[in-house]
Amino acid sequence: MPVFPRTKRWIALLGCLPLFSILFAACGENSPSILNTAGPVAASESGLFWIILWISVVIFILVEGILIFSIARYRERPGMPNPFQRHGNMTLELIWTVIPTLVLFVILFFTIRGLLQVAPENEPAPTAAQPRIEVTAIGHQWWWEFHYPNYNVTTADTLEVPVNATIHVNLFSNNVIHSFWVPALTGKTDLVPGHENKKWFVAEKEGTYLGICAEYCGTQHANMRFNVKVVSSDAFKSWMSTQQQAAVSPTDSLAQKGQELFKNQCASCHGIVGVNVKQYYDTQKECTDAPGGKANGTPECQLGPNLTHFGSRSLIAGGVLDNNADKCNPNNPNLLQECNLAKWLKDPQGVKPGNDMAIGELTNDQIQQLVAYLEGLK
Ligand code: CUA
Repeated sequence: MPVFPRTKRWIALLGCLPLFSILFAACGENSPSILNTAGPVAASESGLFWIILWISVVIFILVEGILIFSIARYRERPGMPNPFQRHGNMTLELIWTVIPTLVLFVILFFTIRGLLQVAPENEPAPTAAQPRIEVTAIGHQWWWEFHYPNYNVTTADTLEVPVNATIHVNLFSNNVIHSFWVPALTGKTDLVPGHENKKWFVAEKEGTYLGICAEYCGTQHANMRFNVKVVSSDAFKSWMSTQQQAAVSPTDSLAQKGQELFKNQCASCHGIVGVNVKQYYDTQKECTDAPGGKANGTPECQLGPNLTHFGSRSLIAGGVLDNNADKCNPNNPNLLQECNLAKWLKDPQGVKPGNDMAIGELTNDQIQQLVAYLEGLK
């Protein structure tokens, strides 16, 4: 008898392997990976993965090796007697109970060590070389708001931080449970309404890292994305001092019309410092974005993202669209086809069904005015 009676099936299975590698190769270099780390917290977490993987590989090779050896060495041959029936061998029973127990203890040791390394209690103390930046990440349905309490600045969709600083993140939600996850920088931690979670991470390389909501939170959960933009300390300072300014007043007439339109159509949900609010709000805890919540629409707590420096952002609509400002010149004849902000203003429910953006239907002229105004808010 052949070893593999269904040779064709094996050939088909082997033939699938190259297809699988093509499939996994499609996960391009921009897709976040917990193994492609850029900071100590993620490195500790991926280190634990590798430890467990290598322990498993050794066990797999040992067990499969013995199995294959036994199949080959002791396979049935013509005229062989029945094998000796072994039952209740104390030594064997002990060996295969004690060894797995020891292996699990080794994994437990490394797991607890990893948990302690990234625990909030082990957040590095601030130093001149490694300052501490405090951020409150607020989970909305479905976008991320980032509030810097020590700077009184609020932004959306992109968390900008300096390289080699300790980023202390307070996690706040007043609606449903979300989960803050930046695979290259830090593992997942939930934002639980009524419960204060916190975490920390350090980014050791400048760059932009994708963040994802990792807890199902409603229709647009998969479109609740954000970027962590890691910049030099100087770039962070200059970005921050810009963000602390009130919005610039538009000078050209198109943008001025856009500002008037903003006041009439958008200001009940969005704030712009110097236009309809005096400052970014002071404390997120006074806010509720539950439908009908009492603080909705008050200047201190807006339902939608604060737009004071909208034009300086790289993402809009809760991370689903690039803010492609180069296509948003109001004179662009294809504004509605090419400018993402224009698409969003034209049909927010088409772009992201179920989101809270409930702007009435705008004329193309009005969209042009709003684009001119908002993209000018650098
Ligand atoms: Cu927020 Cu999923």
